[in-house]
Amino acid sequence: MGRLGKVDPSSYSEPERITTKHSALKWTVDFANTKLLGSVTHHFNVLETNLPAILLDVRDITVNNASILCNGGSSIPINYFASDPVEDIGAKLTLELPEGTAEGDLLVRIDYETSNRASALQWLTPEQTLGKQHPYLFSQCQAIHARSVLPCQDTPAVKFTYEATVQHPKELTALMSALIEKKEAGVTTFKQEVPIPAYLLAIAIGDLVSRPLGANSNVWAEAGIVDASAEEFSQTAQMLKTASDICGPYVWKQYDLLVMPPSFPFGGMENPCLTFVTLTLLAGDKSLADVVAHEIAHSWTGNLVTNKNFEHFWLNEGFTVFVETKIVGRMQGNKERDFHMLRNLTDLQECIRTQLANSPELTKLVVDLSNCGPYDAFSSVPYIKGSTFLRYIEDLLGGPEVFEPFLRSYLQQYANKSVVTDDFKAALYDYFNKTDKKDKLTEIEEGLPPIIPKFDETLANVSKQLAVLWSTKSTADLRLDTQITKSISSLQLIDFLGRLIECQEIVELNEDKIELLESTYNLKSTKNAEMRFRVLRLVIRARLLKRIEEIIAFANSNFRMKFCRPIYRDLGQWAEAKPIAIESFQRVKDQMMAVCAHTIERECATDISSNYLTMLLHCVLLFIVDNCK
Ligand code: BES
Ligand code: ZN
Repeated sequence: MGRLGKVDPSSYSEPERITTKHSALKWTVDFANTKLLGSVTHHFNVLETNLPAILLDVRDITVNNASILCNGGSSIPINYFASDPVEDIGAKLTLELPEGTAEGDLLVRIDYETSNRASALQWLTPEQTLGKQHPYLFSQCQAIHARSVLPCQDTPAVKFTYEATVQHPKELTALMSALIEKKEAGVTTFKQEVPIPAYLLAIAIGDLVSRPLGANSNVWAEAGIVDASAEEFSQTAQMLKTASDICGPYVWKQYDLLVMPPSFPFGGMENPCLTFVTLTLLAGDKSLADVVAHEIAHSWTGNLVTNKNFEHFWLNEGFTVFVETKIVGRMQGNKERDFHMLRNLTDLQECIRTQLANSPELTKLVVDLSNCGPYDAFSSVPYIKGSTFLRYIEDLLGGPEVFEPFLRSYLQQYANKSVVTDDFKAALYDYFNKTDKKDKLTEIEEGLPPIIPKFDETLANVSKQLAVLWSTKSTADLRLDTQITKSISSLQLIDFLGRLIECQEIVELNEDKIELLESTYNLKSTKNAEMRFRVLRLVIRARLLKRIEEIIAFANSNFRMKFCRPIYRDLGQWAEAKPIAIESFQRVKDQMMAVCAHTIERECATDISSNYLTMLLHCVLLFIVDNCK
């Protein structure tokens, strides 16, 4: 596909020639036809005289009209046409400008509707919601799906403010990544006064209620889970306070959480004013709430200072994990902070072994997206290699006392801007060249990669040792070992299970051993999705076919990609289970978001097709499974 734009390989828009300052949206939400219908008025800043055309990104969008709005209130219709779509990218919408268009302000209104397969939108029927009474709509625009919701400059190089008027069924609540201005029966208006990249546009509409979490913070969810959510995320206000101690003032005014339906494909999404989180965080013991710390950290790293394109995604995610671990450190101590980093390294190891086994070029901090979409490059690398690199620099330059003032100055310098890695580097050198740390900077370049800083391993050693015990000892020996019954935290248990999965060899990995594992650590009845996920991967590794239904039930209980993707991948490599997995995937894939379904289809089920032979094999297998019980 080649590079689409000079500034952003994944966008047709030309931010070097024109930028968006503000967008005004008017939408009618049509649940019957699963479409948004309405208009967007973009307030552009034209950067060169005689610009021949405005190029926007679109994906499955029908434009009904386009016109330039003039000062007096009149409008001039403009000619427009769309290119053929490119897979995973979408199409280029050309809006032809009249000759002699001047530099400066330009208002363009586009009337349009979305397609019912808009890749950013998930439309749920009432049956797919918890309450079963009302439909639900939510969006997920990152990385490049905003273009399926509106024609826009869908590149993080451009930031704009927005307002929206949304008409929706009056019994439902509409929320966006913005402040609510006004709510009338069936019409809600919103305003986002801080400039944002298009990928931070977000909307959710459903039968939602809220509980307070703090002065400017609420949690929203369907009624059935809202109290459990308020309890699980009760540390939100304290996390916000801690984050602004580290990063500077919080500019977004409101910080709400929305607990999403099961098909939400991520752990969390940092939509401004309204973070989306998966309901798989509801473990009952707050042990998974660090995802909220992560999304809060994005209020500075990502949302205020934004990667200019997704080749520099580590500037969003690596910095955010770095700040997230600082929040953990401030709230729970530095041992926990380092344990957090070490757990991340276990995940990175898994990612490099599996997902990136054949793509060494994607292990770079800055990737080349000339020939692939941001989704193909998405991995733990920008998160964990990125945050580990920052931690290394921090330690090298003298620790948090020295580094945090720099971090704040970097965030202030680039607030409301979009950055590439060289901007960060320039800021780093400018700042430290003036200090006695100047010489240390040369070590950074010489020492790359890979550098693992010195972490406090106290907490990780416990899970490490358990993984050694369980992988090397027989079940009979383990039963006699008092080491295994020492009490450990939820996170240590999760890390231990993750490390066990990473062991090349596990002695006697069979039904007995898994039974002992589950009973020793109360894993049978756990609500903790991170624990269940890891246990079930061990069950797959032990090839316990009689538990296939439980495995499939978990994979289909939520479509958070972190969980369902590796499970489907593992099942794809297990001959006896593969046809069952294929059948299951075919059954549920329409309930997944498009990104999730595509990823699973691509990597674990390249030959996921329901041909006669696999169907037949499947029937035989189900018969065997039933008879094993
Ligand atoms: N911004 C990301 C989610 C994302 C990234 C969506 C790229 C689409 C494309 C979000 O902040 C995130 O990183 N979520 C993580 C949780 C985090 C604790 C590592 C997730 O969803 O697992
Ligand atoms: Zn993130």
